[in-house]
Amino acid sequence: MIIENDKSLQHHNSFGIKVSAKYFAEITSLEDFRILIDDPKIKKENKIILGGGSNILFTKDFDGLVIKNSLTGIELIKEDAYNTWVRAASGEIWHPFVLFCVERKLAGIENLSLIPGQVGAAPMQNIGAYGMEVKDTCHTVEAIHLATGESMIFNNEDCEFGYRESIFKHRYKDELLITAVTFKLNKIFKPKINYGDIRLTLEEMRVDEITMKAVSDAVIKIRSSKLPDPKEIGNAGSFFKNPVISKKKFNALIKKYPLMPNFPQQNGMVKVPAGWLIEQCGWKGKVVGQTGVHKAQALVLVNYGGATGNEIYALALKIQESVLEKFGIEIVPEVNVV
Ligand code: EPU
Repeated sequence: MIIENDKSLQHHNSFGIKVSAKYFAEITSLEDFRILIDDPKIKKENKIILGGGSNILFTKDFDGLVIKNSLTGIELIKEDAYNTWVRAASGEIWHPFVLFCVERKLAGIENLSLIPGQVGAAPMQNIGAYGMEVKDTCHTVEAIHLATGESMIFNNEDCEFGYRESIFKHRYKDELLITAVTFKLNKIFKPKINYGDIRLTLEEMRVDEITMKAVSDAVIKIRSSKLPDPKEIGNAGSFFKNPVISKKKFNALIKKYPLMPNFPQQNGMVKVPAGWLIEQCGWKGKVVGQTGVHKAQALVLVNYGGATGNEIYALALKIQESVLEKFGIEIVPEVNVV
């Protein structure tokens, strides 16, 4: 393992922002990691773990050590009549991992096909799409504490999962390296196809049977049509989270905006799509310098090439302001702004 100095991060963040790190090291084993955190030269440095770099916006050079997670390995650890437990190292790339499970007919993450990033980020963000979230199948998360070197294991409840939330984004923010995640997957496949365009897409695909592979293919088709490929246009997927508002606020808004899509939550609150709110404020497809709001999904901010992180962040602030002004709703970034 080499510790590089003044390393460009442009190819390590899906926005393609040109920033650099004071130190950069890629770990491929836990031993690498232990050597790294014990290194006296960098013991006192700020540290961040970088997975796929697909949920981060760098606004400045990173004055510290960037640890690039390249831990790999997938194993089927146990099974019973209904479930198989699959343990994946945190540096495995998410989408191929989903395909690995789909090929083995292990259900529970097929609707999460094509989400960018690595396995380790999945519980951190509680990634979700098309009616499925990682919290539904995440069994355990293994981690090492950056400062103390202590090994830790979190079961599903310990993770304190919420909508795009977990304990790893709050109490343990920037404190842990997630090393592996074990998923409890189902041998019995119950398709979840009521969300969004999945059913329609399956019909268009004229599949004879709704298999796990067909659902995965449908999700891939929908995502590819709506979300820009970061290899072509820099972006980090949804920039904001969908706001969850009170019933009272919702009742007042729906009178004024009867077409506002809405998703009532179990706790009586109502989730409103930020993409719709942003579109109503006239931002969809707008280009501002080298930045912009994607033409097919207003929740996605893009770098058309050469934008700085601050330019994208400035656009995000303007969008936040206009949504607040028009709807009285505060939208907050899902992306980690550093
Ligand atoms: N909508 C608009 N205009 C837009 C975008 C959306 O009116 O520009 C409306 C749609 O018509 C629909 C509703 O908003 O009625 C929801 O849109 P969509 O199904 O595209 O989902 P989303 O709520 O915008 C969330 C996730 C996505 C995930 C999709 C599909 C968040 C922050 N985003 O987006 O996740 O792929 O659902 O399940 O929850 C990500 O997190 O990076 C991400 C891409």
